[in-house]
Amino acid sequence: MHEELFKQIHDIGLVPVVKIEDAAKAEGLAGALIKGGLPCAEVTFRTEAAEESIKRISKAYPEMLVGAGTVINIDFAKKAVAAGAKFIVSPGFNPSVVDWCIANNVPVVPGVCTPSDIEQGLARGLTTLKFFPAEVSGGVDMLKNLAGPFPQLKFMPTGGISLANLASYAKQSNVLAVGGSWMVKADLIDGEQWDAIAQICKEAVVALQG
Ligand code: 3PG
Repeated sequence: MHEELFKQIHDIGLVPVVKIEDAAKAEGLAGALIKGGLPCAEVTFRTEAAEESIKRISKAYPEMLVGAGTVINIDFAKKAVAAGAKFIVSPGFNPSVVDWCIANNVPVVPGVCTPSDIEQGLARGLTTLKFFPAEVSGGVDMLKNLAGPFPQLKFMPTGGISLANLASYAKQSNVLAVGGSWMVKADLIDGEQWDAIAQICKEAVVALQG
């Protein structure tokens, strides 16, 4: 399902997880991510500004892979898709959100951190799942162990990933792309420090090569 989108995410390799308080800063932030080599973002529904930010980014940069994160109910999923989100991510496995996305042909990457969660995704034909919270759930060792029973699955690990450990995740054969918020710190967004954000992204892209 949705192979082309997942291939694009894989090719970028890194998904910035964004929490934005002011939608007026969305275009500036997206421009910084693109300049930094990461034309992709998971804009989380942890703020009131998420929906409007997705709308603005989709309009200003139609090619950018903007998805919605922290989609913990169907209402958020509907809002995200209407705003232009190209994919839906959630921290956990919410069957109603996943089933709504599948029924509406919307790419969905639900969060999992146990084999039981994973089997819920498998039962629905999903091929890509978010591994969250990655570091405290066993990190790279957990991914290695999951590759045994679930060789057909790819994961997007997030949670506790940084410049220091991202390469160790990225080189796992069952990792589609790595995600995290360290590239898009709140104070840098608040201060419209677009060059600084672009620079952090560039460093992350270099670290990704290992
Ligand atoms: C997420 O939702 O993916 C996480 O909040 C990202 O985790 P991090 O802030 O540790 O990168």
